[in-house]
Amino acid sequence: METLIESPDFPMDIVNQAAAKEKQGGGRPEFWEMVFWWTRKPLASARAVLAAAALPADAKVSMFVSQVLRTRVNMRNEVENVPHRENPSPPPEWRERFAKMRVLDPFAGFGSIPLEAVRLGFGEVVAVELLPTAYVFLKAVLEYPKWAVEKGLGQQLVKDVERWGRWVAEQLAQDPDIKELYDPDVAVCIGTWEVKCPHCGKYTPLIGNWWLARVSKAASEEEEGEGGEEGARSGLFSRLAWMDWENGSVKVVDLNRELKAKLIKAKVNARQGYVEVGGRKYNVRHPNVNARGEAATCLHCGNQIRYYLPKLNRHSVEKPKGAEAVWYVKHALREWNRMLEEYLSGRIELEKLLESPAKPTLLVKVKVREGDLEFEPATKQDTERLWKALEKLRKMWGDPDIPSEDLWKYTSGTAGNLSIIIWGFDKFYKLFNPRQLLTLVKLVKLIREAGKKVEEEKLRERWSKEDAFKYAEAITAYLAMTLMKHVDYNTIVTLWNPGSWSWNKVAHTLSMRGIAMQWNWCEIAPIPDLPLTYMGILGNTQDGLSYLIFAASNSLSGVKVILDDATLLSSLSSEKFDLVVTDPPYRDDVPYVELSDFFYVWLKRALSDASNSGLAPRFAVEAFFKRVGMTYRELRTQWEELAPREVGLNAGRLSYFSGREVSEEETRRHFIELLHRSFLSMRRLLKDDGLLVTYYAHTDPEAWEELISAGWRAGFRVTAAFPVATEFALRVTGRGKAALDTSIVVVWRPGVRGEALWDQVYREALASAEERALELLRAGRSGVDLFVGTLAATLSAVTSRERIVGVDDVGKFVRERAYPAAARGLARAISRYVGGSEAGEEVRDTGALFYMLAKILLLPSRRAGRRVMDRSAVHIISFGTGLDSKELVNKLRVVERRGEAFHLLEPRGGGRDELVELMRERGLDPKRPQLRSAVDVLHLLEYYAVALDVRSFRERLDGLRSLNAVLVEEALRLARVLGGRLLPLNDPERALCQRVTSYATGAGTLEGWLHGA
Ligand SMILES: C[S@@+](CC[C@H](N)C(=O)[O-])C[C@H]1O[C@@H](n2cnc3c(N)ncnc32)[C@H](O)[C@@H]1O
Ligand SMILES: [Zn+2]
Repeated sequence: METLIESPDFPMDIVNQAAAKEKQGGGRPEFWEMVFWWTRKPLASARAVLAAAALPADAKVSMFVSQVLRTRVNMRNEVENVPHRENPSPPPEWRERFAKMRVLDPFAGFGSIPLEAVRLGFGEVVAVELLPTAYVFLKAVLEYPKWAVEKGLGQQLVKDVERWGRWVAEQLAQDPDIKELYDPDVAVCIGTWEVKCPHCGKYTPLIGNWWLARVSKAASEEEEGEGGEEGARSGLFSRLAWMDWENGSVKVVDLNRELKAKLIKAKVNARQGYVEVGGRKYNVRHPNVNARGEAATCLHCGNQIRYYLPKLNRHSVEKPKGAEAVWYVKHALREWNRMLEEYLSGRIELEKLLESPAKPTLLVKVKVREGDLEFEPATKQDTERLWKALEKLRKMWGDPDIPSEDLWKYTSGTAGNLSIIIWGFDKFYKLFNPRQLLTLVKLVKLIREAGKKVEEEKLRERWSKEDAFKYAEAITAYLAMTLMKHVDYNTIVTLWNPGSWSWNKVAHTLSMRGIAMQWNWCEIAPIPDLPLTYMGILGNTQDGLSYLIFAASNSLSGVKVILDDATLLSSLSSEKFDLVVTDPPYRDDVPYVELSDFFYVWLKRALSDASNSGLAPRFAVEAFFKRVGMTYRELRTQWEELAPREVGLNAGRLSYFSGREVSEEETRRHFIELLHRSFLSMRRLLKDDGLLVTYYAHTDPEAWEELISAGWRAGFRVTAAFPVATEFALRVTGRGKAALDTSIVVVWRPGVRGEALWDQVYREALASAEERALELLRAGRSGVDLFVGTLAATLSAVTSRERIVGVDDVGKFVRERAYPAAARGLARAISRYVGGSEAGEEVRDTGALFYMLAKILLLPSRRAGRRVMDRSAVHIISFGTGLDSKELVNKLRVVERRGEAFHLLEPRGGGRDELVELMRERGLDPKRPQLRSAVDVLHLLEYYAVALDVRSFRERLDGLRSLNAVLVEEALRLARVLGGRLLPLNDPERALCQRVTSYATGAGTLEGWLHGA
């Protein structure tokens, strides 16, 4: 039976709009604010995919949209509500259908897919995760709320989480150490590292950003070029404040205060570092540290701090040839990290530690008064409180609640940033300043104690032992998640962000795809009821939990969360599923194992018991301990236990665990193999008539090859594919990697049959691509939707065979054979759709094919007046043409590269000047043309059609024919397509192409008229 998800009627546009609603300001699902996890999928698309995979192709789409997705759509077909906020209410026969089905997600992450499966009421929902951290979070998202609802305890759970969260905060507030260490009115301290200057011997802070607040109210960016100034903004600012350096210490310049103004009319240039107000110019300093350039400047003496020479134990400004040298700052930080451990374990005294060449220091205290921020320079006494905290920690040394686990031992070649270890941060506790660490340790102890008290209380109220325990487990887990979020915002790798206006100015530790060194970190006080403090986050936890209770409230699903490896799924040996819907890790996008260890080390403590001899099992034992005979062995970190089993692409990790240097190619093969094994286990667990749906990020065509290869070899054939909006468009990524904002959903069915020769498969693939493309064009699909849908039809024909004779490298085969078939099928369908073309009429010249697809699949950017592509769009469009971006830019000059963007070299307007300009940009000489592709011919003909009369046009046309008749025919075909209805009416090339066609066929001449053209 064909399903709705495999049909062109699947309302993709509405689904994508609904998903986009989740990205906007207030649209985020509340439970996402409880704690951070990477790459969470929008709930709207998860819901749509699950339901459409369970419903027949002829299911009523209007019902699907209103009752399942719960979208409200206006006259212009725009989604007006935030659909995930409403529970689905499918009609009874759909409900019954869902209730009979079992659903599995073996890469469940934070649980978007299983959560929606529960809301839809699937009979049984199973969520699997490899990582203990995600496993506990999944329990909190899926299992505890469902259990509480079933026991009639939903609202009570929300209240008790609040009550015990408050209890924790109150206990902490009364702790004498805490009273001694924090000022009650300081919300945040901004700090950084200071290093001992090798020239003058004084400690100089390293300040990565002198700005404290730079918040515009109505300022606009100045245009580059004439009159404007790069990086400058002029207009109204609601907050302008920065740090300065005077007489050997930090001072604060707060312009709002100085000018006694709520709004300041100013010109601000952050890059050049100045503020201009009413003719007066203030300078803001430039960073005195530049890690990439391995440079720093002493604020006291102004000298350069560059290289430390370990052999000679001295500093040098020049990097001596051949001699071993490290950046002095890195050396100093490593020294701090080494000496810190010596101090805490009692091997050196505080005085000695404070002689370390690097130390943490506080710069500015931030207070909140009447909703506004006040900045005050930190004093020496403020920083001394860090050393007080250190003394207290030293007395506690050996306490199992101090996370002394090792960080990973590898940075990685390709994966997200794991490089923090190169600064000597080799134990988790070193990621905190001493006061942060002490407070977090205290919080962990209090959360553990709260869990005990909850259990005791419920036993006194005569609850059953099991219920009291489970209830205590749930509350402890939510309090621990509250702590996780607080921890995420409270390390020496957070970042103060002056640019945005919200109180929440701190970039959290995991906000990049890695954990990266930062200057100007933040320390957030635990107690005051403000955003990001423990108390403040408690409000997020409550809202999130209320959301989850509501989501579970009318579901009859059974739900199971399992800790297992998707490549094995050994805990599910005998069960079969109707649907597997999942979102496997995308190549090297996120090193989940290592990064989530940052949570793991705290989560383990909060949910386990502690005694002098260490941690002991209590809640979610399987996450933190391994049973060995009669005893339990603590699992130190996820990375040590599980890294080799994570489905991911990470050369550093693989090399470390295999004890030798592993090549990129080998790393990639390893990744494909893991992905393949997970498809094998999904195949084992899926019914023969079941459906598998995978999400996969699509930036890179290689990723497609990997996915198809992994799935096809496991006995799955593709039946449909389409893109869905997924992640936040404005996302900070590690190392400036382009943001992925789309995933491709691929629908698979078990069952590949027989073998065939490539020629035969190719004919089938081409025919089905053409048919599907035509179907999609008629259904109004355009852009990437159209292309991916067509590609799916090709892949479907290819993957339906068990074997294609002579094909051994599946990836290469997909790249070199299947993609071109899709592009040709699409080209043919386009010719047919545009009308009037006979078989064999389609555009074939590769340059022309690329140009045509780019024109039809993309819309012009308003700013550039042309089609602008990022690298991934170029990849996708050139998939089938066999061209790469270099050839497109240099050889064919069809696109031009501008920074990270690629501009299609197409006419900006229909006039002569614009075409002359285009000739120039493309390096075409209309008098003596050199033809590189049919695009050249097309552009020349467009130019001739504008510049010449019909007769001269035709002379030129004949001239071109004598140069290269084949390219001319191709160009005329291209003109017929681009003159048709697939281009927007206002695309100047549409009219140009119509003119070329009519001139070429002789319309407008006497001769043409006589021949009826
Ligand atoms: C892309 S994320 C899933 C995100 C999820 N769909 C969501 O919306 O939150 C992929 C997940 O697969 C997990 N994973 C990686 N290797 C695994 C394995 N061998 N078995 C099970 N899960 C694994 C990762 O920990 C990660 O959470
Ligand atoms: Zn100095």
